[in-house]
Amino acid sequence: MANLETEFCGVKFRNPLVVSSIEPTNSVDKLKRCIDAGAGGAIVKTLTDIPDMHKLSKHSKYAILNNKGRLIRGVIPRSFSFYARSGYSSDPYEEWIPHLKEAQVHAEGNGAQIIGSVGAKSMEGWRDICRAVEDCGIKLVELNFGCPHPAMMPGVCGGSMIGQDPEMAAEVTAWVADAVDIPVIIKMTPDQSQPIEVARAVRDAGASAVTLTNRYTGFAVDIETGKPYIGGPAGVGGPWIKPLSLRWVHEIHSKLGIPIAGSNGIFDARDAIEFIMSGATLMQIGSVLMLKGIEYLSEVVDGISTLLDEYGYPDLPSIHGLASRQAATSYQAHFEANPVRAAIDQEKCKFPKCENCIRSCFHEALSGDNGTVVTLEENCLGCELCYSVCPHNAIEMLDKAA
Ligand SMILES: Cc1cc2nc3c(=O)[nH]c(=O)nc-3n(C[C@H](O)[C@H](O)[C@H](O)COP(=O)(O)O)c2cc1C
Repeated sequence: MANLETEFCGVKFRNPLVVSSIEPTNSVDKLKRCIDAGAGGAIVKTLTDIPDMHKLSKHSKYAILNNKGRLIRGVIPRSFSFYARSGYSSDPYEEWIPHLKEAQVHAEGNGAQIIGSVGAKSMEGWRDICRAVEDCGIKLVELNFGCPHPAMMPGVCGGSMIGQDPEMAAEVTAWVADAVDIPVIIKMTPDQSQPIEVARAVRDAGASAVTLTNRYTGFAVDIETGKPYIGGPAGVGGPWIKPLSLRWVHEIHSKLGIPIAGSNGIFDARDAIEFIMSGATLMQIGSVLMLKGIEYLSEVVDGISTLLDEYGYPDLPSIHGLASRQAATSYQAHFEANPVRAAIDQEKCKFPKCENCIRSCFHEALSGDNGTVVTLEENCLGCELCYSVCPHNAIEMLDKAA
């Protein structure tokens, strides 16, 4: 069995799968259930002093959409859109103190960790809530610079508004890093154009790690009513967003080397492994648990070790950043790569009944001739589109020189 033990910012986790800050972490009982279901940790639903963010959670709305943009109505597809409006923790942070202590004792007894999450309205708030978290024996705190909702609250500066501004993000990070002794993680927003600058700024200001990323802000429309779902703009994510999240994990891992917790797009163990191979150390899983239940965690944790065993990896360090290291760093590498060409297996090819490859070749390299598909080698770029669209496994990409 592959070893799943993980160290993140000097803190040990029995496995790398932690529940992100979300509804399934909004009470002590739920935090304990996450641990009992096998999570390596759980991040408490963001603690706050912003009254409207408490209130927003009491008015939460969720519309879960399929790939046609319609409500899923009980059928959970592999690629759902989780379109939702929800605030931070519904109880004042002071009331959380005994619960956090209790949850942390429970987690540590199981080789896991509770992580704090904070989203405040003032510098004093950031400092006081983070200190309260630290005083509960919690070993890591995440600052929520990624939530889309404060931006829609007049007079509030929080969440993604901070995460979009490298200077403000650095200022709050430095202030908190100075006030507490535990490592500070910055949860970033994907709703921005300069994530590397923000990650660099918070690292230089004292952050020990970044979480990549919180959710995008979206707008989903129900054409039957002609209205937006759940009344207007909301946070949006789902497994389909994973390549966008992985892009930032890869870029920030390769350019800055700062420890990364991956979030935004994990449905199952395979997704978690993609995050590790892109450069993440911890994986945060959230919205899928709201659809499949907290107990689904054990399937994902078991799946990670099963896949590692299947591919012959003994542990997590052996795959950490593996794909990131093998990514081209410039287009020059692509220009210099060995050219390939499409070769048709005439036995498997179903032409003229099927013309998928010819229809998708935009370089005039494939044509139907005398009842067979023929490759015009000098036109074939080796782009592999025909290989993707062939339903009969009749195309192989071969070295042009061979
Ligand atoms: C309903 C809902 C509530 C959330 N609440 C919080 C929150 O309080 N604090 C936070 O940092 N992120 C919050 N998030 C973001 C999640 O923690 C997570 O980063 C995001 O859902 C992407 O991960 P996923 O693809 O596994 O869902 C919330 C997400 C959803 C869907």
